[in-house]
Amino acid sequence: MSGLTLTLAAVVTLPIALLAWVAMRFENDDGLRGRLRQMRDLVRLVVMSAHPTGPLYLLWSGHEFSSTTRFLNLGYWRGANDIDEAATNLAELLAQRARLSSADEVLDVGFGYADQDLYWARTHRPRRIVGINLAEHQVRVGRARVEAAGLSHQIDLREGSATRLPFGAHRFDVVLALECAFHFDTREAFFQEASRVLVPGGRIALADLVLTGCDRGLVGRTLDAARARFWQIPEANLVDAAAYRAGLEAAGFTGVSIEVVTGDVLPPLRAEVKRRMREPAVRRKLHPLHRNPLSDFLSRALLTHDWPFAPLDYVIVTARRAARAP
Ligand SMILES: C[S@@+](CC[C@H](N)C(=O)[O-])C[C@H]1O[C@@H](n2cnc3c(N)ncnc32)[C@H](O)[C@@H]1O
Repeated sequence: MSGLTLTLAAVVTLPIALLAWVAMRFENDDGLRGRLRQMRDLVRLVVMSAHPTGPLYLLWSGHEFSSTTRFLNLGYWRGANDIDEAATNLAELLAQRARLSSADEVLDVGFGYADQDLYWARTHRPRRIVGINLAEHQVRVGRARVEAAGLSHQIDLREGSATRLPFGAHRFDVVLALECAFHFDTREAFFQEASRVLVPGGRIALADLVLTGCDRGLVGRTLDAARARFWQIPEANLVDAAAYRAGLEAAGFTGVSIEVVTGDVLPPLRAEVKRRMREPAVRRKLHPLHRNPLSDFLSRALLTHDWPFAPLDYVIVTARRAARAP
């Protein structure tokens, strides 16, 4: 066998052997088929790390704790008994803050699996909802759900980026961003786009994250950067409320309101996760790559303590596009 053949064989077999070895380390109750799926997901994980939405939504379906919805947000827990109610509450709160009405044409960016669009279409009944989402799989599932609900005439879901909106100027009355703008690269680029596609006087409402604003020193800032990378937040989006307001104003928005609701979002969510993490029903829904002792430890640390979220406040932001924007 020539040296070239040996090298080629090694290049092909070594990564496969490595993948197989890693896949064998994970819990698996589905035999060879399960192992092959784990190998496939490991490859997807590496590939998706380079994708703007990252591997976050591969590893966490977001539905480990939910049963009646497919929301991907952390929820607004005041008066809620479970994550489905809390996530729906958050969609309701955003709609109320945006003063959504039947006269509005709405642009919903980062719509996940379209739960909020189905909810808004049935409750607030805006004239039309157009959705934009970067994740192709979510767009496909969202469209199927809209069709199954018989709401295709009212909800139009498209694949695309919030930072390059495929619409002409002055098209929408309202732009909504339910727990997603911190992902956008960058959030300020999205503000510019939102301002462009809104009619003068149009409204924007966001459920978002801001830095609490304390000066955290070098170690704190390094930790912040690591956290931001984990949550798929570009560093440029790690800003406090004052810079957030300035970003909106620079894009032509006025009357900016930033309401801190952290206490009704993060502590109750963490309590729920801590309470239910070991439930067999929840465990069965965990991604197979998560069902191993190291992942258990990391998930518990990440989701049940303060520090993964520490310097971030959860906020509801509203503003109005000025009559004349820059
Ligand atoms: C935390 S999830 C929230 C989903 C949904 N709003 C909900 O509450 O269930 C963030 C969403 O933002 C989407 N996203 C991330 N970057 C995006 C971008 N640049 N443009 C459009 N959507 C994006 C993701 O695909 C995902 O659907």
